Amino acid sequence: MQKIKKLEMQTPNKTNRHVEILKELFPHAVSESKIDFDLLRQILSESIVEGDEERYRLDWVGKKASLLKANSSINKTLRPCVNESVDFENTQNLYIEGDNFEVLKLLSESYLNKIKMIYIDPPYNTGKDFVYRDNFTQSKADFEDAIRMRDEEGNKLFKNTDSNGRFHSDWLSMMYERLLVARDLLKEDGVIFISIDDNEVHNLRKICDEVFGEGNFVGNITWEKRTKAQNTLDAKNMFQSKTEYILTYKKNINKIRFNLEVSGNKNYDLDDERGVFRYKLIEEMSALGMRGRATMIYPILGILPNENKQWKVGQDTINEFLLRNDIVRIDNKVFFKIRPEDEDIKKYYPFWSHFFNKEAYGTAETGKTELSETLDTKEHDFETVKPTTLIKKLLFHLQNNDNEIILDFFSGSATTAHAVMQLNSEDGGNRKFIMVQLPEATDEKSEAFKAGYKNICEIGKERIRRAGAKITQEIASAKPRNDEMKIASAKPRNDGNLDIGFRVLRLDTTNFKDVYYHPNNLTQKDIFDFQTNIKEERTDLDLLFQIMLDLGIELSLKITPQTVEGTKLYLLENNELIACLEDTISQAAIQEIKKLKPYQVVLKDGCFADDNDKINALQELASVTTVSVI
Ligand SMILES: C[S@@+](CC[C@H](N)C(=O)[O-])C[C@H]1O[C@@H](n2cnc3c(N)ncnc32)[C@H](O)[C@@H]1O
Repeated sequence: MQKIKKLEMQTPNKTNRHVEILKELFPHAVSESKIDFDLLRQILSESIVEGDEERYRLDWVGKKASLLKANSSINKTLRPCVNESVDFENTQNLYIEGDNFEVLKLLSESYLNKIKMIYIDPPYNTGKDFVYRDNFTQSKADFEDAIRMRDEEGNKLFKNTDSNGRFHSDWLSMMYERLLVARDLLKEDGVIFISIDDNEVHNLRKICDEVFGEGNFVGNITWEKRTKAQNTLDAKNMFQSKTEYILTYKKNINKIRFNLEVSGNKNYDLDDERGVFRYKLIEEMSALGMRGRATMIYPILGILPNENKQWKVGQDTINEFLLRNDIVRIDNKVFFKIRPEDEDIKKYYPFWSHFFNKEAYGTAETGKTELSETLDTKEHDFETVKPTTLIKKLLFHLQNNDNEIILDFFSGSATTAHAVMQLNSEDGGNRKFIMVQLPEATDEKSEAFKAGYKNICEIGKERIRRAGAKITQEIASAKPRNDEMKIASAKPRNDGNLDIGFRVLRLDTTNFKDVYYHPNNLTQKDIFDFQTNIKEERTDLDLLFQIMLDLGIELSLKITPQTVEGTKLYLLENNELIACLEDTISQAAIQEIKKLKPYQVVLKDGCFADDNDKINALQELASVTTVSVI
């Protein structure tokens, strides 16, 4: 039924509209339909803003500093590691090593509004988790407690124990600043799923309401993670936990719908050109039945035109199926072709339990076994691994994700990458993944360390390599489909296009020397000393990736090196960019670039013979494209 809209017959309330616009831009600055000016001022400021107005919101020590951090810039880059990658040239998948906050910031131009689904499984703040803290100021106790890893800028992982006076605050800041940046990456019809347990679910819900807008909350899935009985009290005399949650938010509640499951577990074991179906007999009323109801006695046109039988279904239903050509006669019996969309009830099961369907949901135990089997090790010390089935289930619910990018920035053993490849192999999809993971050291006493995995990234990458190989093998050995039988069971793809590769990128300091950012601080002597503003050990490929990040170009694009007129150029897929990173460039090469008409061109500032040369070349190029210099 069409909705009837009543005309307002008055001028619009602009205040409400303005609040709505602000809410779309900064959901975290609007609470209970009121603008949180304090927070808004902080969002728009480059220093900590004082102010303490009472209002309904979750506050903690360090919240404003987190907002500031989320908005400030960083001078870092992602350096490609070709040797550790698989099929670097052609793959569209990324594996990024580094702290996810900085990585997300770096990705925020190239992947702005481009990610369909984010799944994360962050540390749950159990009192035993290692949490990354930047610019760590070291007290004696901290020192004794920690230091498994420290990067060049003094950042390190610390164990967030509940004796930490900021136990919840530190965790909240860590999550808040990452979610703020991650939100911008989601497409308008994108969805974020966050695994969490009882330790922080209440706080996480609050900050997600703030970051994504409480109107975009979809629900909270309960996942039964253990099969073993837990019906007792734990060591602290609390209920033992057997379940955890997956908080779900849409970027925009109106922009995407979820797929639902067809109830009844019906088996559609036949298929035709319109898809899968099953036969259902159209029953006749028995001789002892209610003979005589005239409306139920009719011929079925085109099928049994001359027989006036009394059917158990009404003529309207018959006509509907006749119209769509879904009635067939076999041996004098008449059948409907019932398709999944005909089944009346579609369901969403809010309790994801192995008890109902072990195959569909999996458990923490099946997740661990899956990882052991893939890595071929008995023990891997990975307690928090999720089963691929769980991630596949999330993907099932997300409509139209076949060609989309799936991001997991707490990727651990890379279950999400495994699930994406697996699902692509099953349904022919072309989903791409981006995994982000800190190279957190494995414990020297652990089995993983003994097996040669020095950090978690090594585990994640090896898992993807092995899972990819296994899936390809499964496809090769899958039995060809028997068309005679028309069995619509799983049909593994065999088109040779399954992407099991990944480009490895590593977070590092910028490729540029300080002078690049502060040219005014240069002395005459510096100018003489500096041959180049690029760090000596950095390669063309390093530079190219930093340029792509800066210009907002996706990092999976194909790169084709090409030499024209003696000058090496890098051509990016779809003509997105031509970069020339040589120290000199000929006029002939400029003319060649001009002919190719790329969307953007990047050259080195110092590659021209003199100022005149530079002005002419830049003007020529600017007449057909956008030119930048580094
Ligand atoms: C709960 S585990 C994820 C497990 C994953 N879902 C799986 O199935 O293997 C969380 C992961 O996040 C990583 N992590 C923690 N802080 C991080 C940070 N700041 N940046 C990137 N990864 C981080 C940890 O090293 C850990 O591997």
